[in-house]
Amino acid sequence: MFLTKLPAPIDIHVHLRDPGDTHKEDFYTGTSAALNGGISAVFDMPNNKTPIFTEESLREKENIAKVKAVCDYGFYFGSTGKNIEEFPKVSERVVGLKLYLDQTTGDYLIRDLASIRDVFIKWPKEKVIVIHAEAENVSLVIKLAKESGNKIHITHVTTKADLERIIEAKKMSLPVTCDVTPHHLFLTDKDAVELKGKGQVKPSLANLTDKTFLWDSLSWVDCFSSDHAPHTEEEKNSPSPPYGIPGLDTMIPLLLTAVKDGSLEMDDLIQKISTNPHKIFNIPVDKDTYTEVDLDENYELKKENLKTKCCWSPYEGWQLHGKVKSVYIRGKKVMEDGRILVEKGFGRNMML
Ligand code: NCD
Ligand code: ZN
Repeated sequence: MFLTKLPAPIDIHVHLRDPGDTHKEDFYTGTSAALNGGISAVFDMPNNKTPIFTEESLREKENIAKVKAVCDYGFYFGSTGKNIEEFPKVSERVVGLKLYLDQTTGDYLIRDLASIRDVFIKWPKEKVIVIHAEAENVSLVIKLAKESGNKIHITHVTTKADLERIIEAKKMSLPVTCDVTPHHLFLTDKDAVELKGKGQVKPSLANLTDKTFLWDSLSWVDCFSSDHAPHTEEEKNSPSPPYGIPGLDTMIPLLLTAVKDGSLEMDDLIQKISTNPHKIFNIPVDKDTYTEVDLDENYELKKENLKTKCCWSPYEGWQLHGKVKSVYIRGKKVMEDGRILVEKGFGRNMML
């Protein structure tokens, strides 16, 4: 068996639901799903039940992760524009700031221009602002970044029109980066019909033209991120399902399948899962942290092989090509063939 090494894969966009919604996921199950999927570090979003808008809520989360995480991690701070006085207290403890300009899980929108501008001015220039923006909001934040000089990162870019806006900004050398998710690369609005509640996600699954454009324009995309957003099967099958698709267990296996079928280069996968995330978030690559994969192993994705607490995947039954075999973090083997080999609390906060 020939194993290929992926250096320190980071998933820069996950929701581990701890504290507040630990019936969906917690720091142990979420970081176990990361290791199972070959990810050695996760950056966790601030839209918890009590959002991470204060130093106090950030400290609470830090203390929980410290005793539960099995992979390394970082946190985002969040803002709706009303907690700017907290920024100096937290900015060094987090990987970046997250802003929601468009509707999703949790009611944490920042919409008015004055507040967004104020946040841009007050957030440290060298630290990235990760933004959920769609359609004209993409143009708006690019314009603001141009004015203020902040580094912005547009996450889960979904449509042709939005990626075109970002490409235009990149051609002007503006400080704008972006990521795409596996569900927007592998699923469309047609799948959403079949998947019913399980296909409900923000941004919504788009059409084939959008999906094709993402694949054809991957050279403009900086990172892959899973936007791992677990909800229970019961919640997803209810009449008003919450938005979100789990993806930590499956992101690298799906991308390896794309490498095998020739739609993605291995070097490009490494750039987007490791090199660029480290650069954007200004974190050195640890040479003793890596994932080993077997590109030749062919298998069916089964529910029982997932580690996410929600325990479902839109890709159940898919034939995958390329299996995650083991993960090493800081020189220690932490996962092998789906078995977690370290105790809760092994994972470190990359910012502290
Ligand atoms: C996310 C969630 O459930 O927290 N849902 C989603 O559909 N992507 C929120 C988000 O990433 O915007
Ligand atoms: Zn998200």
